Amino acid sequence: MNRRDVLKAAAVAGAYAALPKYSFAAAKGSDKLKVGVIGCSGRGIAAVRDMINADRNVEVIALADLFPDRIDYALDRFEFYKNNKTKPLPADCFNVKKEMIFTGWDAYKQLLQTDVDLVIHATPPVFRPMHLKACLEAGKHVFIEKPGAVDAVGARQLYECADLADKKGLSVIGGIQRRFHKGYMEGIARMKAGELGDITSTQAVWLNSKFFIQKMRLQNPDPESMEYQVRNWFIFTWASGDCYVEQHVHNLDIILWGLEKKPIMVNGLGGRRWDLPVPQMGNRFSHFAVDFDFGNNLHCYSYSRRETGAQEMVQEKFMGTKGTLELSLQRQRIIDNDGKTLWEMPQKDLPQCLEEEHKVLIEAIRSGKQNNMIRELADSTVMAIAGRESAYAGRAFKYDWLLAKSQKNYLPENCQFGKKPVDGIPIPGQYTLS
Ligand SMILES: NC(=O)c1ccc[n+]([C@@H]2O[C@H](COP(=O)([O-])OP(=O)(O)OC[C@H]3O[C@@H](n4cnc5c(N)ncnc54)[C@H](O)[C@@H]3O)[C@@H](O)[C@H]2O)c1
Repeated sequence: MNRRDVLKAAAVAGAYAALPKYSFAAAKGSDKLKVGVIGCSGRGIAAVRDMINADRNVEVIALADLFPDRIDYALDRFEFYKNNKTKPLPADCFNVKKEMIFTGWDAYKQLLQTDVDLVIHATPPVFRPMHLKACLEAGKHVFIEKPGAVDAVGARQLYECADLADKKGLSVIGGIQRRFHKGYMEGIARMKAGELGDITSTQAVWLNSKFFIQKMRLQNPDPESMEYQVRNWFIFTWASGDCYVEQHVHNLDIILWGLEKKPIMVNGLGGRRWDLPVPQMGNRFSHFAVDFDFGNNLHCYSYSRRETGAQEMVQEKFMGTKGTLELSLQRQRIIDNDGKTLWEMPQKDLPQCLEEEHKVLIEAIRSGKQNNMIRELADSTVMAIAGRESAYAGRAFKYDWLLAKSQKNYLPENCQFGKKPVDGIPIPGQYTLS
C-alpha cells in the first residue's frame, strides 16, 4: 500500500488514529497477517485451513476457547494439516506459543490483548455480538461465522458493530459463503439482469437428517448444566437460536441478496418430534415452515428441518415469469417454464467459496480498502430470528416489529459454569412474543 492509499483508507475510516495497525504493516508486503481463533473446534479450525489455502502469508499465533480439550483438538488438527500427505499446509503458518493459549470465559478478552491482526470467530452464535464488539473495540479485523446473533437484542448490537467497524476502518467478512460462490454470483447477476422476467415467488430450503449430541466431549453429563448446554449448543435455543436461525440463515441470506428488499410480514409454523427426550436433546424445534410476505404478492416460502432419517435437501429458488433460478452448492442453473435448462454454471475448477471469503477479507486488509459485511449478515440473521419467533408463537407479525420492539435476549446474565435450567419447548399459542 502506498502513502496515498493509506491516506485514502484513513479518510474512509474517518480518523487516522482509528486505523488498525495492520494497514501500515501491509505496506511491507511480505509481513504475515497474525491470526487468532476464538472458538477452536469444527468450524473455527476448518476456517484456519481455508484461510491458509486462500493466502499462505498468514500465521496463526493465538487460540482462545472455553475448554482446554478444544485447544488440544485444535493443535492436533494443525499437526494433521501440516503433515497431510495429499495437501500439506506450510508449517510456518502455525506458530502458537504456550503463552498465547487462553481458556475460560474471558479467553476471548485475553486473546484480544495480543497483537493479532485478524480474528476468526466461531463460537456458538449467542456469544457473537458481545465478542464481535470486543474484537472491533480492540482494533481487530474479523472473519465471523454465521448466524450473527440469536435474538433481537443481539441483532441490534450487530448493526452497532457495523457502524463501529466503519468508524475504525476494520474489515469484517461473515461466513455466509454462498455470497462468494461464483455460480451463485453469476446466477444472481443473471436474475438481476432480467433473465427470469418478473420474480413471482421464492423458496428457501434446509432439510438436514442429523440431530445428535456431542456425548464424547462431555465431562458433566447433566443436561441442566452450562457445560452440557454449551458443548451441545445447537440443540438449545438460547445458544444456537434453533436450527432455523443457525442453519437456515444461509438460505434466507440468498433470498435477501437476490430480492434486495426486506419482508413486510412473517407467518411461521413449526414443532418438535415427540421422541426426542427433554432436556437431554435440548429444547429446540425439529421443523419449521415460514411464509415471508415481501408485498406485491411476492413471498418466500421457507422450510427448515433437522430430523434423523428424513430426506436431505438444501437449496434456494427464484421463480419468474420467464424461468426459475435454482441454486445449491452442487448446481446453479436457470430453467424455463417447461424445465429446459437455459443456463448452467460449469462446476469444474470452480473456486472453493469457503476459501474465497478469506481471500476477499485478506485482500481488504492488505489493500486498506475496508470491506464490512456485518449489515448483510445482520439482515439475514434478523430474517431468521423473525421466522423462528413467528413459528414459536404461532402468530403472524409485522416484520419491522422484531428490530423495533422485541426485547428477547438469550445471552445468560452471568456466563459461568454450574446449574442452568432448561427452558421448556416453546408451545405455539402459548409462547409470547416479547
Ligand atoms: N459457514 C458454515 O458453513 C458453517 C459450518 C459449520 C458451522 N458454522 C458456524 O460456526 C459456529 C461454530 O460451529 P462449530 O460447528 O464449529 O461448533 P463447535 O461446537 O464444534 O465449536 C464451537 C467452539 O466454541 C467454543 N466456545 C463455546 N463458547 C465459547 C466462549 N464463550 N468463548 C470461547 N469459546 C467458546 C467451544 O468450546 C467449541 O470449541 C456456529 O455459529 C455455526 O453455525 C458455520
